[in-house]
Amino acid sequence: MGTMSPSAASGLQLSTVEGVGFADGVTDPGQTSVAVLGGTGPQGRGLALRWAAAGVSVVLGSRDAARAASVAAELAGQLHPEGRTPSGTDNATAAQAGQVVVLAVPWSAHDALVTEVAGALVGKVVVDCVNPLQFDARGAHPVPVPAGSAAEQAATLALGARVVGAFHHVSAALLADPTVIRIDSDVLVVGDDRAAVDVVIGLAGLIPGVRGVHAGRLRTAGALEALTANLLAVNRRYRVHAGIRVTDL
Ligand SMILES: NC(=O)c1ccc[n+]([C@@H]2O[C@H](COP(=O)([O-])OP(=O)(O)OC[C@H]3O[C@@H](n4cnc5c(N)ncnc54)[C@H](OP(=O)(O)O)[C@@H]3O)[C@@H](O)[C@H]2O)c1
Repeated sequence: MGTMSPSAASGLQLSTVEGVGFADGVTDPGQTSVAVLGGTGPQGRGLALRWAAAGVSVVLGSRDAARAASVAAELAGQLHPEGRTPSGTDNATAAQAGQVVVLAVPWSAHDALVTEVAGALVGKVVVDCVNPLQFDARGAHPVPVPAGSAAEQAATLALGARVVGAFHHVSAALLADPTVIRIDSDVLVVGDDRAAVDVVIGLAGLIPGVRGVHAGRLRTAGALEALTANLLAVNRRYRVHAGIRVTDL
């Protein structure tokens, strides 16, 4: 048994989204299923832990189904009874299973994974949290992306997917630490499909302390992705897990 607080689901307002299974007025995260591809890594497992704690049906994806199942079992051991036991499988099966699909792999693996599962993403809300960064002795820096950003690249590779960029700036270390009860942070959410953006804002709001904020169109995703390099520099300089807060909102 872990120390995760009980679900913060009471304020959830998921929007109506045709094709991804949300019904009008749904406020029950138990009716939502989220696949987290690359869910065995720090970011994916952290998001999975938080959503499972809020009662969301979460399936972790991995290149190795057994590894995903093992991580899912580990996360289950960190949940309070109110939480919902996650499952684990291969990325392709997870992408089929989730109503919402989160991409949480390294940038180097992003395009190949999206291409592999593109058929399963048609009509679904796809959340891209991938930061196209490289690291050297001077720290992290953004790398050029042909489509402009990882999120736009996903939209190009997975035609018909309702791609949203989000969760670029939430620390995996905080998400995955069950002793951290609240993460006081905003999640900047960008996308061209307003209903899809609202679904992701709802998912952000399931994480205690987190607020999802609509921050523009998908074509601005590159700015969010690049900003992560600055946050990582803050983390390094001040030895923190920095996040973003929008003021006067
Ligand atoms: N870490 C953070 O604090 C943070 C915060 C915000 C956003 N992000 C973004 O979230 C993404 C994931 O971050 P992370 O730190 O969790 O990354 P990670 O640990 O490097 O990778 C996540 C998972 O991706 C899979 N993977 C690794 N290489 C792969 C490859 N070549 N092909 C297919 N799958 C591969 C692995 O799962 P399997 O081996 O099980 O397949 C791995 O566990 C990154 O793009 C990062 O920019 C991270």
